[in-house]
Amino acid sequence: MKVLMVASEAAPFAKTGGLADVLGALPAALAKLGDEVAVVMPKYQSVRAEGLKRIWNLLPVTFGPSYFATAIDEVLHNGVRYFFVDCPQLYHRAGIYGDSLGSYPDNHIRYAALTHAAVGIARSIFRTDVFHCHDWQAGLLPHLLKTAFAADPALLGTRSVFTIHNLGYQGNFPASAVRELGLDPVHFHMEGLEFYGQLSCMKAGIVYADAITTVSPTYAREIQTPEHGFGMDGVLRTHAGKLTGILNGVDYSVWSPESDPHLAAPYSSGDLSGKQACKRGLLREMGLPENLARPLIGIVSRFAEQKGFDLILEIGDWLMAQDVALAVLGAGDAPMQDAFRALAAQHPQKLAVRIGYADALSHRIEAGSDMFLMPSRYEPCGLNQIYSLRYGTIPIVRATGGLADTVDSSTGFSFDEFTPEALQAAITRALHAFANPTAWTDRIHRGMAKDFSWDASAQKYRDLYHSHGTVTEFS
Ligand code: ADP
Ligand code: GLC
Repeated sequence: MKVLMVASEAAPFAKTGGLADVLGALPAALAKLGDEVAVVMPKYQSVRAEGLKRIWNLLPVTFGPSYFATAIDEVLHNGVRYFFVDCPQLYHRAGIYGDSLGSYPDNHIRYAALTHAAVGIARSIFRTDVFHCHDWQAGLLPHLLKTAFAADPALLGTRSVFTIHNLGYQGNFPASAVRELGLDPVHFHMEGLEFYGQLSCMKAGIVYADAITTVSPTYAREIQTPEHGFGMDGVLRTHAGKLTGILNGVDYSVWSPESDPHLAAPYSSGDLSGKQACKRGLLREMGLPENLARPLIGIVSRFAEQKGFDLILEIGDWLMAQDVALAVLGAGDAPMQDAFRALAAQHPQKLAVRIGYADALSHRIEAGSDMFLMPSRYEPCGLNQIYSLRYGTIPIVRATGGLADTVDSSTGFSFDEFTPEALQAAITRALHAFANPTAWTDRIHRGMAKDFSWDASAQKYRDLYHSHGTVTEFS
């Protein structure tokens, strides 16, 4: 079985969030099970990959009035072929999705080009049985396979799986995009591509894919409700028969305190002494007092409404009055960045904030903190709480989506209502528990013993791919 994954980011080549972590690890886990998997993504300006080589000089991409002369580069990563679509005009820019002025106005064209290039790769370089499309950036592909390319002999029998990593980002564009992208307007209706008058790439994936997955069982249920459906709950209920939730795994070769090269000292469940060295190192790095007895709460996140940090700011005065310190790494919404900076300026002994994206520091916060906070409004899966469990850092989470599926009362602290009071109560419970070192260490051990490696989840994707038979074996 051959599977071609299509996505806008993959670690370690380009990353803004957990999507990249998934695309960096799931393909190799699938390959281990015996499927042949490749990934196609844009060659952004920031992409650096040792061993990257040009394998295709000219892959013409045409749709609507557009013509792009792309080229394809390839690198092997964990034994998996990663194809990069090189098209400087579209991808050589300061950011991945946008810059200081906001999202790039031609993102619909940039990602339509990615899906067309993926089809070109499937025709000429990597004949595939399944296109596994991730998030709205790859959402048009299932639609094209069922329509414009339905009779293409090279793609006959090819099927598509569409994975929703975050329903909050839908790739909705003005109706004029239908013609710009060369889509047949006959499909621009409520049961097709249209979403409240706009062209929706997310909806294209949902409606036309042969199977839909999302990244946790709880989120699969939640997105069918008005509260979490972002207006798509009705469409998702209509297509519920092909929707399943498959929990993300984590790549323990990257996220394990025994072998993490970024840490001040390694440690394991059997010998936690290195964790204290990590805490001391982190306090020093963040400019906080080296008080090891005081609980330290870590945060690593995009600053977006989804992540719920407005709740933290609402209880800021109370929190700063507790015997606790916070190490925060985040980037995103400017008002949220400013609010954290302002609180840190008022309480420099208790709160240290780094604004930006810093991979190595994110590992040190996971290791050096006693607790890790994720008060998300919604969370399709969430990876940091799973990393926290492995690093012996007790998660405090809102019980939603994947947070509810990965943290329980034996390993962490959770709260249900999205209110400052509920968050405050959960933090209070965690701080009380921290005061009892024996029970706290038991809790650490229970969390570290949990296994969220990719094996089980990769097997579920594999079952899904194989549930419809293959085409390459006949070709
Ligand atoms: P999301 O994809 O919604 O941002 P996840 O929890 O699935 O949330 O994954 C986030 C990933 O991005 C994690 O690997 C996390 O460590 C990383 N990350 C988020 N913000 C930052 C940051 N400011 N610096 C470094 N890494 C970050
Ligand atoms: C999204 C979600 C996050 C999930 C990640 C990977 O960015 O916000 O919860 O873990 O995708 O699937």
